[in-house]
Amino acid sequence: MLFHPTRRATLALFGSLFLLAGGVQAQAGKLPNVRILATGGTIAGTGATSTTTVGYTAATVGVQALIQAVPELAKVANVTGEQVFQIASENMGNEHWLQLAKRVNQLLAQPDVDGIVITHGTDTLEETAYFLNLVVKSRKPVVLVGSMRPSTALSADGPINLYNAVQLAGNPAAAGKGVLVAMNDQIHTARDVTKANTTTADTFRAAELGMIGYIQSGKPYFYREPTRKHTVDTEFDVSKLASLPQVDVAYAYANVGAVAVNALVAAGAKGLVHAGVGNGSLPANTKPALVAARAKGVVIVRSSRVGQGIVARNGEANDDQLDFVAGDNLSPQKARILLMLALTKTGDTREIQRMFNTY
Ligand code: SIN
Repeated sequence: MLFHPTRRATLALFGSLFLLAGGVQAQAGKLPNVRILATGGTIAGTGATSTTTVGYTAATVGVQALIQAVPELAKVANVTGEQVFQIASENMGNEHWLQLAKRVNQLLAQPDVDGIVITHGTDTLEETAYFLNLVVKSRKPVVLVGSMRPSTALSADGPINLYNAVQLAGNPAAAGKGVLVAMNDQIHTARDVTKANTTTADTFRAAELGMIGYIQSGKPYFYREPTRKHTVDTEFDVSKLASLPQVDVAYAYANVGAVAVNALVAAGAKGLVHAGVGNGSLPANTKPALVAARAKGVVIVRSSRVGQGIVARNGEANDDQLDFVAGDNLSPQKARILLMLALTKTGDTREIQRMFNTY
């Protein structure tokens, strides 16, 4: 990773301070074993100058360089790295998720791995986090982390975010809380968090439900617990899956018609998430296409583009009559993930509704 000279000086200064302060694990004399799985993103990105914070290239710096750029890591964990992918996260696909989940499960089954950090682009980080939250079969900590500024930027947020994520993944207090996201000194659950600003460093938010904790001087402080089932308590198993069913999102807006829904069904969608307006309302010009899709066996989930709140079953549409599923408060992109996994188990909409009420 490239660093401005000031950053190097800052690193040295903070290195000594961390040494003086002593991490929790360091004081106990036994460091946790944390594996970093690197997938690319801005945290591994480089820009032309130290002031380039847009228009940089994501996914160019390798995992070993990421680790070496934060020598403080060695004081708080036995860190090893693995380059799983090197991509910008807008290119994250189902096949990446399956590969990543299988690797995470394999590693967490090893007694010599205490926790995993996944470095990831921020654009789809919340989706990968939620997918893993549903399919990881371990209570050990799994923490996703990214950055909003490339590694070459003034005040790059990657090094401190990575340091925090490693501390979190190595801390037993983070176990059993599902997959976590550590960004900007905050701890979020995979289910609730979303990227909420295109460019600022405080972009990860769980607007109404809130974060579950802070990280201060490398130490996590938790204030809430996730209430929805996750990881070892889900019914999903990726170990034998080579692909996931095609599920797409059709976005609603004023004047929307049926073109997108019809095109997605024609392209082979097995499930469709209707990103409706308001409480998942069905526009008159779209509803017949969704009804026809359901008649062909496509499972329809009503969600909302609003971003907060519950899409009520039998609220703005009679789901019982239409045989649709209400998407609870999941964003359309997360409803897509749950629907894909649900379809690996069943096509029964009552069962799928149960899963949406559970996860
Ligand atoms: C990406 O998602 O890979 C690019 C943007 C980012 O990481 O912030």
